[in-house]
Amino acid sequence: MSLYPLLRPLAFALDAETAHRATIALLKLRTGTAFPPEPPSTPSLETKVAGLTFPNPVGLAAGFDKDAEVPEQMLSLGFGFVEVGTITPQPQAGNPRPRLFRLVQDTAVINRMGFNNKGQADARRRLDRRARWRGVIGVNVGANKDSADRIADYVAGVRVMSPVADYMTINISSPNTPGLRGLQDEGALDELLAAVEEGRTDKPIFLKVAPDLNDGDHERIVKAAIDHKIDAVIVGNTTVTRPLLKSRYASEQGGLSGEPLKTLALDALRRFRRASGGGIPLIGVGGISNADDAWERIRAGASLVQLYTAMVYEGPGIAKRIARGLADRLEREGFTNIAEAVG
Ligand SMILES: Cc1cc2nc3c(=O)[nH]c(=O)nc-3n(C[C@H](O)[C@H](O)[C@H](O)COP(=O)(O)O)c2cc1C
Repeated sequence: MSLYPLLRPLAFALDAETAHRATIALLKLRTGTAFPPEPPSTPSLETKVAGLTFPNPVGLAAGFDKDAEVPEQMLSLGFGFVEVGTITPQPQAGNPRPRLFRLVQDTAVINRMGFNNKGQADARRRLDRRARWRGVIGVNVGANKDSADRIADYVAGVRVMSPVADYMTINISSPNTPGLRGLQDEGALDELLAAVEEGRTDKPIFLKVAPDLNDGDHERIVKAAIDHKIDAVIVGNTTVTRPLLKSRYASEQGGLSGEPLKTLALDALRRFRRASGGGIPLIGVGGISNADDAWERIRAGASLVQLYTAMVYEGPGIAKRIARGLADRLEREGFTNIAEAVG
C-alpha cells in the first residue's frame, strides 16, 4: 500500500519548492541495499528506442531531478528512464522565489524556476560516481540566461555531459529563460541543430519542443530534426497558454503542467505524428496521470512517455502503477510488446 496519501497533506502544508527539496533529501537517504537497484522487468514493456533498451516506457520528465541527485532512486521506484536537468554550463540561481505553485483544484503546477541548477561540472561529477544501472538516464541541457552564445552552451552541454548520459536532450522549450523558445524558429533551429550535429558523440540526441506551436511548425521542426540526425522528439514542455483554471494561482507567470495541459499536449503529439509519418520516434509528455493517458499517447504515436506533475499529486508509486496498467492493457488488446502498440 502506498504511504503517499498520508504524506501528501504534510508535503502540501509546505510551500511547493520547500516540499520539493525535502522530497529530494528523503530520496537521497534511499541508497545502497535499502532499495532494489533495478526496476522489475516485464518483457512486454521492454522497448528499444534510438538504440537504447528501456525496461518500460514510463519516464520521469526533466525538472524534478535538475542536478542529478537521485536518478537511481527514481529508477528503483519503477521508472523505465529518468531525465535529469535542465543543466546549464555555469551554475545559476534561477528566478526569485516564489517561482513554483501548486494549483490543487486544477491538479496542475505553474513554474517559473528559470533553470536553477548547479552547473555541468557538478552534475558530471555526481553522475561519474554512479555505478552502472539498469534503466536509462538522459541528461537534459540548456543555455545560461546571460550567455553571450547560447548555441555554444548546447554544444558544450553535449560534449561535457555525453560521457555520463545514455542520451542527451536539447531543451529549447522552457518558457522561463527569455528568448529561449526563439531557438525553435526556422533559421535559429537549423543553426543550433547543425552545431549540435557537428559536436555530437555516439550518444543519441533528443529534442524537446513546446506544445505551443503554430500551424506549419510541426512539419518544419520534424524536417530540421531528421536532417540533423536528431534521434527523437519530446513533445513537449509546459504551456504558456492558460486553459480555464480554478486555482488562485492561475495567473502566475510561467509554464503550466499537469491535467490542464493534457489535451494540448496530446494534440501537439498528434500533429508531430502526422508531420513525421513515423519517420522519427516521439516521446509524449504533458498531463499524463494514469495508464489510460499513457496508452492514449502511445496509440497516438509516442514510443515512450514521461511525466512529472502527476507524481506531485499521486506520489512516486505512479510509475509502477502506470507500467502495470500498460502491461495489462497490452495483454487485453492482444499485443505481445509495447512497440507493436505505437500508433
Ligand atoms: C517544477 C517543474 C520544473 C521543470 N523543469 C524543467 C526543466 O528544467 N527542463 C525541462 O525540459 N522541462 C522541465 N519541466 C517540464 C517537464 O519536464 C514536463 O515537460 C512538463 O511538466 C509536462 O509534463 P507533466 O504535465 O507530466 O508535468 C518542469 C516542470 C515542472 C513542473
